[in-house]
Amino acid sequence: MSVIILGIETSCDETSAAVLADGVELRSNVIASQVDIHKKFGGVVPEVASRKHLENLHPVILEALAQAGVTPGELSAVAVTYGPGLVGALLVGVAAAKAMAYALDIPLIGVNHLEGHIAANFLVRPDLEFPLLCLVVSGGHSDLVYLPHRGDYRLLGRTRDDAAGEAFDKVARALGLDYPGGPLIDQLAQQGDPRAVQFPLAFLEEGSLDFSFSGLKSAVLNYLNRAAMLNQEINRADLAAGFQRAVVEVLVEKTMLAAQKTGVKTIMLAGGVAANRGLRELLQARAAAAGCRVVLPPLHLCTDNAAMIACAGYYKYLRGDFAPLTLNAVPSLTL
Ligand code: KG4
Ligand code: ZN
Repeated sequence: MSVIILGIETSCDETSAAVLADGVELRSNVIASQVDIHKKFGGVVPEVASRKHLENLHPVILEALAQAGVTPGELSAVAVTYGPGLVGALLVGVAAAKAMAYALDIPLIGVNHLEGHIAANFLVRPDLEFPLLCLVVSGGHSDLVYLPHRGDYRLLGRTRDDAAGEAFDKVARALGLDYPGGPLIDQLAQQGDPRAVQFPLAFLEEGSLDFSFSGLKSAVLNYLNRAAMLNQEINRADLAAGFQRAVVEVLVEKTMLAAQKTGVKTIMLAGGVAANRGLRELLQARAAAAGCRVVLPPLHLCTDNAAMIACAGYYKYLRGDFAPLTLNAVPSLTL
């Protein structure tokens, strides 16, 4: 008999539900994005996000079940993101998942959102052998994670200030681009010369696997302010390309250092910034030169979605790692 997991994700501004059979057969992955609403404010407004999740979640779950051709009675378990994220947003998903688990008398599985991002790789590559290394880069995180075994996450490095996606979004905003700015900078950078405007690369202390992007963000803002003061035209594509290069160089360099330190030969990418073309290309090139293999989640599974939550939930289901019905949202949950 198949193991059928309903995944629910509401940690930020995407309301999503997905149905996954046996960890690999994705029957549906419905995503209601609130981006157009938050765009007007230049970022996610937490209170608005919670209210929209409340409106959208029920129809999104029904749609996910309908597309999958699955009745609630056929579900083996319900897996939900319980952190990290916006507390009000998380609570909507957690309350819905608890209600379903209770009413259907099936296990409830609490999933860490970052574990979900990492699991996007297992959805398409269930055969990956451990140990693995994953660079998780999203709007809230920039983490280098070592996975000696399935379900075992060891944090090797993290950002000390802004996350990579946050830096993309802030620089995009300074350039007058819409939220979320990452994909727009990515596009703009394709037309620019990454060496025309050189920004400092923040490697921190020798051997450190931590990141820092706030200095780079300030350097870009200073560059823009100076140009405005002197009434100088700026080439936006060159600026985007120079900024992206400074982020991606450091991300890739540290990832390769982590691979060298741990001896891991398979490197995964995860999180919204994993969709960045510059990052995907440079990591593949450097890894190939070092004799390592790179696993990239498909673009549509990089940004927030419930398929990745269902997948992480599937492996927890196999381990019998269930949550009590007292499960609560944990906004600052760590791996
Ligand atoms: O993982 P995600 O969807 O949400 C969080 O968990 O934070 O990541 C969203 C972040 C945003 O900062 C967005 O600008 C960034 O991922 N992003 C990108 C690209 N696509 C999304 N950043 C750079 N290049 C992209 N192509
Ligand atoms: Zn995310």
